[in-house]
This record gives sequence, structure tokens and C-alpha cells, in this order.
Amino acid sequence: MASFYLENMMVCIILGFKALYMSLLFVAVTSSSATIPKVFDVQSYGAKGDGKTDNTNAFTNAWKDACAYNGRSRVYIPRGTFYLGGVTFKGPCSGKISFFIDGTLLAPSNNDDIKSDTWISFQYIDYLTITGSGIIDGQGKESWPHDECYKHDKCPLLAMNMGFDFVNNSRIKWITSRNSKAGHFNFFNVDHFNVTDVTITAPGDSPNTDGIKIAFSSNVQISNTHIGTGDDCIAILSGNTNFDIYNVTCGPGHGISVGSLGKSKEEKNVEGITVRDSVFTGTIAAVRIKTWESSASTIAISKIVYENIQMVDVESPIIIDQTYCPFPPCEKAGDSHIQVQDVTLKNIWGTSRSKVAVNLECSKSFPCKDIQLIDINLKNNGPGGPATALCENVKGSARGTMVPPSCLN
Ligand SMILES: *[C@@H]1O[C@H](CO)[C@@H](O)[C@H](O)[C@H]1NC(C)=O
Ligand SMILES: *[C@@H]1O[C@H](CO)[C@@H](O)[C@H](O)[C@H]1NC(C)=O
Ligand SMILES: *[C@@H]1O[C@H](CO)[C@@H](O)[C@H](O)[C@H]1NC(C)=O
Repeated sequence: MASFYLENMMVCIILGFKALYMSLLFVAVTSSSATIPKVFDVQSYGAKGDGKTDNTNAFTNAWKDACAYNGRSRVYIPRGTFYLGGVTFKGPCSGKISFFIDGTLLAPSNNDDIKSDTWISFQYIDYLTITGSGIIDGQGKESWPHDECYKHDKCPLLAMNMGFDFVNNSRIKWITSRNSKAGHFNFFNVDHFNVTDVTITAPGDSPNTDGIKIAFSSNVQISNTHIGTGDDCIAILSGNTNFDIYNVTCGPGHGISVGSLGKSKEEKNVEGITVRDSVFTGTIAAVRIKTWESSASTIAISKIVYENIQMVDVESPIIIDQTYCPFPPCEKAGDSHIQVQDVTLKNIWGTSRSKVAVNLECSKSFPCKDIQLIDINLKNNGPGGPATALCENVKGSARGTMVPPSCLN
């Protein structure tokens, strides 16, 4: 009798647990289904991954529906090679939206077929995610020989691979961008934007193929990313604040630059930029701040930190150049009016390919202030003997290991 009672109790308890378990499972299933996005597969809009059908309309229509969907949505690009003309994906969208690329997006090889300065443009969007294992291929090879921007600055502009204008709380993860006709990713007026696990490549001799160009943006994080191109790996331009750039490998390329700045009157200050835990291999420059000689703007570049940086055969590992003049002769309207201040260069080591491994050439009218060098160890692998440091119009201090010996006083 007692054992029967006990057995019944056990059954009750087990059933109770089972019911609880099932209801927990139910809660888990319903809540996860609420976060699964509605998928808008470009193929159901007529897109063909055959490498030649023009998919511009199919992609645009998939975007429109996804953007209007009142919940989480995903534009999905499956495996295959999708030829795509110049396209703009505009918000605002009704919910969070992702652009999931598993295939390859192929740009027109003729720049004239893009009809815009950006091949794939995203504008006025909040909560956008670009992701997937896919590739965006700018097919720059045909147009690079027509790039004349190295000769003069009124050159016709080639299209950049992907642009983000007024896009907030967003991210790019995993995708690969290659062989853009000009810069690969362009950011203008973005806020809270993360770029992670991205790969950006173009040949080292391809003109103007910057990896990431960014202006008027804030709270940006770029990490775990490899960039090898024919121009700056990352160019940090006017009006940027609060950037954290880390674990980036750069090379070939021209380094991670603040600037060039000083060319236009509309520029704004650049403040709070950290570049850390990164490696430069075979680049022209690495740690670089450049401002135009005879600058039109009077702004400040401040609170800049480069920390834990390895150099492998870099032409100019550390360079502040306030006499930047790529198309000489520059009009001699005076020195750069840009104030560079509060710059920390800490724990930077490795090899230089030129004798002047540390080159601080600041403006005569606005000498650099508060430049701190801490633990620098750079050896010259090129001709000319031991590495040297050069200082012009610069005030600051040096401590810790200092090879080459500091020129600050
Ligand atoms: C992004 O943020 C800026 C200011 O932080 C705001 O002016 C702009 O409207 C925002 N854009 C979107 C698409 O929410
Ligand atoms: C960017 O990454 C940081 C963590 O590293 C995270 O806190 C933040 O929410 C991310 N922002 C976006 C927009 O994904
Ligand atoms: C740095 O980034 C690479 C990808 O470029 C990644 O494989 C590696 O795990 C990252 N390292 C850290 C410490 O996160």
C-alpha cells in the first residue's frame, strides 16, 4: 500500500517534470522562432547566379520587400556568381535587416556601367548587418590602367566597392572584398559600426584601392581583419571620433593613416583614435598622420594612440608628415594649419626598410604637441646603417626602450 502510494508519487513527480520541461521547451522554441528573420532570397525575385544575368532589379526588389517587412528580415544571396550593376539600397527600413552573402557579387568590369561613385551603396539605415562567407568582386583590373589620380587630383573617379552613408548601429562580418576599382569600403556619417573578420584584398600596385575610407563617423570598431591593397589599409579622414582598431594585419598597402587632412575648408576635428595589436608587413608606411602643406582647414588631430604594433620590412614605420603634397608644386600659402597633439606611440617594434624609421615632420606654424614615444624598437633592414629618428617642429617626450634614439628633447 505504502509502496503503491510512493510509486504514484514518483509518477506524478516525473510527469510534473515532463510538463515543466515541455513548457520550457515550448518557451525556448517560440522565443527563438521570434528572432529568426524572414528570408528574402534574391532568387525568388528572379536573380540568377550564372555570372552574366544582370541582377540589379532582382536585388533591388528583394531589398524593397525586406526593408518594408515589419520585423527582422534577411536579404539572402545563395552560392553562385551574381552579376550586379551599380545599386543603392536605401532605408529607413521597418525592422532590423541583414544582407547575407554566401555567393559572389560581380561588378561590371567597365566602370562606365556603374554610373555612380559606389558600386553597392547602403544609405539611411539603422541596424544593418552585412554578413556571410561570400565575396564582393569589384573587377578592378580593367579600369586600374585608366586611373590618373596619381598624376592630378581632378581625375575621373572610379567606383568604390561598397559604401555606407548615414548607417547606424550596424556591422559587417566575415565577407571578403576584392579588386575594387577604387576604395573597397567607404563610410560617411556612420555611428556605432563594427567591422570584424573581414578580408580586403587588391594587388599592391593597384592605384587608389584603399581598404577602408571613413569620414564624419563615430564609435567605430574595426577588428580581426586582414587588409592588403595598393593604397591605405585604413584612411581615417575628417570628423571622426572614438575609433578602436585592433588585430588588423595590413600589407601590402600604405598603412593605417590619419589623413590626409587639410585639403577642404569643411573638415572637422579628428579625436580619440586607437590602433592596437596590429601587424604591418611590407607596407609603404604604417603609423601615419598626414596633412596637406598649405592647408585650407584649421582643425585639430588629437588623442591618437598607436600601441602594440609590429613592423615587418616597412618602408616608413612611423611618419607624421605635415608637408604632404602629392601633386607638386603645392601652392605655398603657408604651412599646414592643422594642430597635431596628444599622440601616443607605444610598444612599436620590428624592421624598417629605410634608415629614417621614425619621422616626425610637423608644421612650423602649428608644431606638434604632446607627442609621447614609449618603447620603440625599430631596426633598419635597408641600406645606410642603423635606423634614425628625425624631428621637425615637434614637442613631446620619450621613455622606455628607444631604438632609434629619440630626437625629442
Ligand atoms: C544616425 O545617427 C545620427 C546621429 O547620431 C542621426 O542624425 C541619424 O538620423 C541616424 N540615422 C539613422 C538612419 O537612424
Ligand atoms: C560592436 O562590438 C562591441 C563589442 O566589441 C559591442 O559591444 C557592440 O554592441 C557592437 N556594436 C554593433 C553595432 O554591433
Ligand atoms: C585576429 O584576427 C584573426 C583574423 O584576421 C583571427 O584569426 C584571430 O583569432 C584574431 N586574434 C585574436 C586574438 O582575436
